[in-house]
Amino acid sequence: MYKLSQLTPDGSIMLNGKKITDTILYVNGEYVKKSEAVISVYDSGFQHGDGVYEGIRAYGRKVYRLDEHIKRLYESCYTLNIDIGITQDEMKLIVKELVKKNIEAGIHDIHMRLQVTRGFKAQTGMHPTLNITNSSIVICVDEKPPIFNKDGIILITTWLKRYNPQYMDPKIHCCNQLNQIMAACEAIRQGADEAIMLDHNGYVAETNSTNLQLIKDGILVLPTLDSQLPGITRKAIIKIAKNFGMEVQERNVSISEFYNADEVFICGTVGEIVPVKMIDGKKIGTMIPGLITEKVSHEYKKMTEIFGVSIDD
Ligand SMILES: Cc1ncc(COP(=O)(O)O)c(C=O)c1O
Repeated sequence: MYKLSQLTPDGSIMLNGKKITDTILYVNGEYVKKSEAVISVYDSGFQHGDGVYEGIRAYGRKVYRLDEHIKRLYESCYTLNIDIGITQDEMKLIVKELVKKNIEAGIHDIHMRLQVTRGFKAQTGMHPTLNITNSSIVICVDEKPPIFNKDGIILITTWLKRYNPQYMDPKIHCCNQLNQIMAACEAIRQGADEAIMLDHNGYVAETNSTNLQLIKDGILVLPTLDSQLPGITRKAIIKIAKNFGMEVQERNVSISEFYNADEVFICGTVGEIVPVKMIDGKKIGTMIPGLITEKVSHEYKKMTEIFGVSIDD
């Protein structure tokens, strides 16, 4: 089977000329080096994107909002009739053990992609009756500080619509991300960082990989959850805003409202909270980051220290 360590003569993993840390992963019951990790080409994830995932961060020796991530994972699997085969508590123990192993190996800024697929197939074909094993459980670990430029990012609006539940419920956090990857390709083509995806009625849904919100006249305005992932970071932001005594509106929001907002920011586990400086070539607000974005980010940082599950318990 093909391993990452076969990519370069000395077995290192390279990205844009930079050496990538060889972390420890969990693959179907085993802890293995990233460079050596493999999975069958007959896995449902590889064959069809038939699986779900969670992006989870550890801050020091704590896994941030682990319970919420695991709950969302199990809910997506329940919808898709994927039997994970272990309890939520057992899954949390695996995550904690994996973080421990990586910290012991000197890994910092741990970001995990916990992926569960329908398992291996006896032969190709999408039908779940062709599956012959339990689900596959893979947890990729990367040394990955928040990925976006905190000085502000550039967005464009793509013609590609985000799914709504009529086609594919975005509340299922599924491995098949082609809808969003095509949007990301459009962003790259236009020299932007991310693409805003509208819903099937033309209102803003989210970006290809994050939730999106605006501040106008001191009010936090968020697109409804109809056509976007119910982000764990988004939920935390609502809580922060309410604690500040801010008015929070969850409603249909048009792209024009985003153009004319005082502040716009994206949010998600992998990038945390990041101000948006431009959308479709239009400058947003007057300051980057805006005062409220900065205040919310500051509070969010504090949350990451408090709402983590200790790997030592
Ligand atoms: C499409 C999409 N929106 C939003 C998010 C942010 O969600 P969270 O805050 O739970 O990381 C993600 C994260 O995976 C995502 O894939």
